[in-house]
Formats: sequence, C-alpha cells, structure tokens
Amino acid sequence: MAPVRRKRVGVLISGRGSNLAALLAASRDAAFPAEIALVISNLANAGGLAVAEAHRIPALTIAHRDFPRDRARHEAAITTELERHGIEIVCLAGYMRLLTPFLVTRFAGRMLNIHPSLLPAFPGLDTHARALAAGVKLHGCTVHLVTERMDEGPILAQAAVPVRPGDTPNLLGARVLAQEHLLYPLALRLFASALPGTAAAETAALCNPVSD
Ligand code: GAR
Repeated sequence: MAPVRRKRVGVLISGRGSNLAALLAASRDAAFPAEIALVISNLANAGGLAVAEAHRIPALTIAHRDFPRDRARHEAAITTELERHGIEIVCLAGYMRLLTPFLVTRFAGRMLNIHPSLLPAFPGLDTHARALAAGVKLHGCTVHLVTERMDEGPILAQAAVPVRPGDTPNLLGARVLAQEHLLYPLALRLFASALPGTAAAETAALCNPVSD
C-alpha cells in the first residue's frame, strides 16, 4: 500500500514554543500524518524560533511591528509565506495576536488553536488565575478550529486536570501545559488523518461542496 502523504503544517508562534516542540517530536514518527514544514513568529525574540531551527525547520519572523496599524497587510505577508511553502494546515501554538477574517477565511476549516482552558470556560488571557478564582475543580486545555471569534470554534479535543488544594496559577498552569503537549499532537494526528488531500481542486470541493 502506498504511504499516505503527510499534510504540510505551518505553526504560528509568539513565545517559547513548547507546544511547537511537542508537535515536532510527534511528527518525527514516520507514521504521523503531518509534517511541520514552516514556523512563523510575530516576534523576533520568540524562543520557539530556536526550537524550529534546532529541528532544521524553516523559521521566519514576520513582525507585526513592521505593519503598524495594518493587521490585514501583516496577515497578507503571513499568508504569502504559508502558501509559498504549500501549507495545508495551520496550527496556532501560543500565537498571541488576534486574527482578522482575512487569514481565518483563507484557512477556514484548516486552522487549529490550542487554548489553556476547558472552552467555552475562560477564553482570553490569565486562564489559570481565573479558573482558581472561580473555584472550579476541573481545568484543562482545548484544541479547536479557529473561527472569526476569539477562542471559539468547533472543539476537536480537550484534556482535563484536577485543581488541587494550594494550587497557584503557576502550579496549575504547569499541570495544564503537560496535557497540552499530549493533546495537541493527538488532535493534529486525528485532524490530519481525516482531512482529504488539499490539492487546489480538492480544496475548492471541500469549501464549496456541490449538491446536484
Ligand atoms: C500555551 O499554554 C497555549 O495554550 C497558550 O499560550 C501558551 C504557549 O506556550 N495559548 C493561548 O493562550 C492562546 N489563547 P508555548 O509557546 O510554550 O507553546
């Protein structure tokens, strides 16, 4: 049987890149249905850029500061690179910029995000402190498809952790992060296996299903 072609994944980051490292580690398995083909950061000092370089993955900074007050042009520059590298799936991994409909629409149904809470609870920032303040007994992380509304979109996978007596945001956050590193590769594995080939014609069929 012919080997299944691995889907080409672009990862957008803003920070240390521990989720990127987890995706890269998983994709070292030849049976993993996706390969990380490009990493883009909006910050030149993001630690994740060094993670990508250590794995010899093309890594670029497209700084939002170079496009003052023009998110659309920033995203157009990102899109150009994603397309130039033949990216079929985009994974947001600690990418801390709000996206405009431009990029979301271009990769509709093919853009994933990981968020450090059990969505729909605690969208946005400071999720661990907010979970502790709310007194929840379970917290966790979510991988979801990206839509135009922040931290919304169909949920693909979740992992829960207990909140323990004496937890601080850091302690709880570390417990969640360990789960993120398992959940994101798992979700990408399932998603990429299920996604049909995305040659141009097939993409069009995917986005515009024809019903006779
Ligand atoms: C992760 O905890 C991720 O869930 C979170 O940023 C962190 C990035 O860490 N993302 C969000 O809050 C997005 N709303 P990493 O750079 O080590 O992967």
